[in-house]
Amino acid sequence: MSKPRVLSGIQPTNGSFHLGNYLGAVKQWVELQESHDAFYCVVDLHALTSSPDPKELRQNTLVSVAQLLALGVDPEHCTLFIQSHVAEHNQLGWVMECLTGFGEASRMTQFKDKSQKIENDRIGVGVFTYPMLMAADILLYQADQVPVGEDQRQHIELTRDLATRFNSQYGKTFRIPEGYILKEGAKIYDLQDPTSKMSKSAESASGLIELLDAPEINTKKIKSAVTDTGREVRFDVAQKPGISNLLTIYSTLSGRSVAEIENEFDGKGYGDFKGAVAEVVVEYLRPVRTKTLELLGDPGHLNAILRVGADKASAVASKTLSDVYERIGLLARG
Ligand code: TRP
Repeated sequence: MSKPRVLSGIQPTNGSFHLGNYLGAVKQWVELQESHDAFYCVVDLHALTSSPDPKELRQNTLVSVAQLLALGVDPEHCTLFIQSHVAEHNQLGWVMECLTGFGEASRMTQFKDKSQKIENDRIGVGVFTYPMLMAADILLYQADQVPVGEDQRQHIELTRDLATRFNSQYGKTFRIPEGYILKEGAKIYDLQDPTSKMSKSAESASGLIELLDAPEINTKKIKSAVTDTGREVRFDVAQKPGISNLLTIYSTLSGRSVAEIENEFDGKGYGDFKGAVAEVVVEYLRPVRTKTLELLGDPGHLNAILRVGADKASAVASKTLSDVYERIGLLARG
């Protein structure tokens, strides 16, 4: 029996990943690469929708790869590649665009949110067609499962609809992928605003635990995290979102249960607790930061890893694309 296949993508974030990215996604990627035939890509083409600076995009892509490797994504156990290295993503993306209804695409909540915030003449069409490129990312690899956060659920639904539509119109070509919605337990919130998800789009970086920040900086951020009135260290998202968030972080990184940690800090104040959280976080991230910096010191090695990944990915993607082209009636090049 061959292992089920997973595919997932992550945007090349600006600078460092934050703890939410890691606990929300990358940690589970690392687990899945053992039990699954895993394809992971850094989606640099999707990143173009926010018009990044060219130099920064290139650097961020490399830094993202180095961080994935440092966090345990292992090219011996998965296929790690850059989306733009495999041209089939765009090629199938176009086919997906032709298959998608205008209304259907207009109903994507992420598109609606973004297009409400930005005026019409400044928003790129890429923001609108983003989900069709994502569908192509997934369908090219005949993925069984797609590990993503809850916010991507609607995009996975669209992908399934498009795959089903294509199959019924042109004959069975695509496997219908399932969303593998990443575990809720690992949801991490902003340290300064513990009712919002930890996210790069936060107004200030003071609520983000960045993987590549120096240990002193992260210690300081945790010690200044917003807490709640009262002094009990107790998990209660409604009454104590700040403390609950720190408990989640502590528990996830230490592998100890929330109840055990609550017990340990019974009768102690928030100060002691935050000190302990800071220590766990810093010790956890120290080797990741060291390893990332070491990898970035040898870009030749990173490029070699990416070349192998792109070759493995291309082998699968080109097969799917040629089936698709044939089925939809494109004349083969002689
Ligand atoms: N849209 C995803 C996100 O923002 C990233 C992504 C692009 C992706 N292509 C994908 C995720 C394919 C899973 C599969 O998180």
